Amino acid sequence: MAQGELKSSVLNRKRNPKSPVASRSSKKQKIAEHRKSLPIASEEERLIEAVQKNDILIIVGETGSGKTTQLPQFLFNAGFCREGKMVGITQPRRIAALTIAKRVAEECDVPLGQKVGYSVRFDDTTSSSTRLKYMTDGFLLREALVDRLLSRYSVIIIDEAHERTVHTDVLLALLKKVQRERSEIGGVLRGCQGRKVSPLKLIIMSASLDARVFCDYYGGAKDFRVEGRQFDVDMFYTVHPETDYVDAALNTIFQIHSEEEEGDILVFLTGQEEIESVERLVQEKLQHLPEDERKLLPLAIFSALPSEQQMRVFAPAPIGFRKVVLATNIAETSITIPGIRYVVDSGVVKARTYDPNKGMETLDVVPVSKAQAIQRSGRAGRDGYGKSFHLYPERDFWKLEDSTKPEIKRCNLSNVILQLKALGIDDILGFDFIDKPSRSAIVKALAELHLLGALTDDCKLAKPAGEQMARLPLEPVYSRALILANQFNCLEEMLIIVAMLSVESIFYDPRQKREESCFLFIFGQARTSRNHFVSVEGDHLTYLSVYRELDEFLEERKAEKSEAKVEKIMRKWCKVNFVNSRSLKHARDIYRQIRGNVEQMGFNVSSCGNDMLEYRRCIAASFFLKAAQRQMDGTYRALESGEIVHIHPSSVLFRSKPECVIFDELMQTSQKYINNLTRIDPLWLAELAPHHYKTEE
Ligand code: CDP
Ligand code: MG
Repeated sequence: MAQGELKSSVLNRKRNPKSPVASRSSKKQKIAEHRKSLPIASEEERLIEAVQKNDILIIVGETGSGKTTQLPQFLFNAGFCREGKMVGITQPRRIAALTIAKRVAEECDVPLGQKVGYSVRFDDTTSSSTRLKYMTDGFLLREALVDRLLSRYSVIIIDEAHERTVHTDVLLALLKKVQRERSEIGGVLRGCQGRKVSPLKLIIMSASLDARVFCDYYGGAKDFRVEGRQFDVDMFYTVHPETDYVDAALNTIFQIHSEEEEGDILVFLTGQEEIESVERLVQEKLQHLPEDERKLLPLAIFSALPSEQQMRVFAPAPIGFRKVVLATNIAETSITIPGIRYVVDSGVVKARTYDPNKGMETLDVVPVSKAQAIQRSGRAGRDGYGKSFHLYPERDFWKLEDSTKPEIKRCNLSNVILQLKALGIDDILGFDFIDKPSRSAIVKALAELHLLGALTDDCKLAKPAGEQMARLPLEPVYSRALILANQFNCLEEMLIIVAMLSVESIFYDPRQKREESCFLFIFGQARTSRNHFVSVEGDHLTYLSVYRELDEFLEERKAEKSEAKVEKIMRKWCKVNFVNSRSLKHARDIYRQIRGNVEQMGFNVSSCGNDMLEYRRCIAASFFLKAAQRQMDGTYRALESGEIVHIHPSSVLFRSKPECVIFDELMQTSQKYINNLTRIDPLWLAELAPHHYKTEE
């Protein structure tokens, strides 16, 4: 691949030259030097001038040039945060918002949550003194529900716009409208909290070369290029297609480790479960190597990773060690990890696809686009000359799509449409999207929201149900489940289930890589251990008993222990029970947050105790659109779409095959699987969702 002109002849990178306890002043000095060395550093004046002159600015620059960490600080210094105003920076991923805010707080030498803070769903560190606010695009959209004009912000930066997440796309349109309204209102009216409304500056930042689409969308807005630093990267491909990219990735990691010179490895995989399994496999394999070849340190980075573990990937490896960072596509552009010289590209990514005709959304592992593959290999050329290993033949590279389709064209729109309705935007078909979703997808989402009781017959926001659903930071179907659970007196149980369904892989098995190998899971210790939680009624209730049992276990020990000790006890409990402690910790955080949300809405959190019948009926009433019925041949038919599906082998109902189930997840691998199930009585559907099911169905 022809990369920029900059070539490094010698890679002279010292590893961890000082002891980890570097003095505060030398750390400050190091940070100052690092900031000065970034390509964007010399552009400060020109950039500020461009922002002052243009209400909309499109900034394009190579990943790692310093856009995300530096520009907000430049704006602060130039006075854009006077009179309590804020600069808001959106990220498509929560983990990027978190890690970058932490970094910027460190650069500013302030505690996180003061001048610099982040806000993501279920985690908000900002305070009244926050001036630089990093957040997810979804969070800003939600903020607009309370403050339509986003009047606290003087500048809003939509970062990573090329990712084209559905929230970014909606924001691009919404902010255009907000900007117009704010300049029309000028200083005459006041914002929601009595603040003076000033004009809004809008900055769109993108790593890809395709900035034209944004310039055109904003009527010929000015673009500003920040030159990056990119060294040559040699690309390698496999001769034949690989049947198992996880195995291939593992072999490549060890090949690089034994044959290549120093430098860290970045491996692109698809998700938490896969990353954790590779992490364990690397550890296992290392045990079989001679002592002096074991100096390889696997580190994971994916969105749901607890925040204290996220920062570990940025720290240099201990002397003599090589880091191998196992990442999702988050490391493509959102975050830059120093020290990477080798990239391993699985060639796949987990992506949402939605079929509006069937009303089915699936999370599938699909090939990356050419742009993604090129971006991935570029990650090896940040610090010097690098190598990227693609686990597919070169001829397959040329067959890839050029770029990824915007998410808005391949997802269920019910969530964003509900938000738009709550923002008072009623004409969804006429809304000024940068890329319009298909009419059928919009119509389907409106119909679904109507079925869920969020919209009235004439497609207006229903009160109070629609308003409540829009306020909760959940997919509409989960929000509705909480509202219904309040009526069924099992809100506490539903809060737990919604939290548990919001995280990936509650149980783990060291050998579990694919659904085929899940059969292994049923044997041995893991089975005995999981059996202990299993509910014959299904996965939802199994998760409930995991959550409750840990709660009881911790409750007994909490009194005499510190928080750190409790955490340690929790990890031990999880290990013994083959439960993923990262996931469970995340679920407990989510539970606390959404419990707070519903209490704020005036709900009284009651429990149905051991009355699981009422609880299962509530599940049926809430998720009636996701019911499947067993057929003569043992397969299932999803009632809404008519799709033929199979119970996933990791479900606790895999063997018992009840007549009728509610499912949470539908995925397509070698075949269509449903997972996270609860056994229900089919007659409940007609009783509890009579507007959708008739008894004979
Ligand atoms: O946004 P852009 O890709 O242009 O760059 P950035 O995210 O502002 O990152 C600039 C530099 O800061 C990179 O060299 C990163 O390695 C470094 N950085 C870091 O060391 N730790 C972080 N948590 C974030 C960024
Ligand atoms: Mg960036």
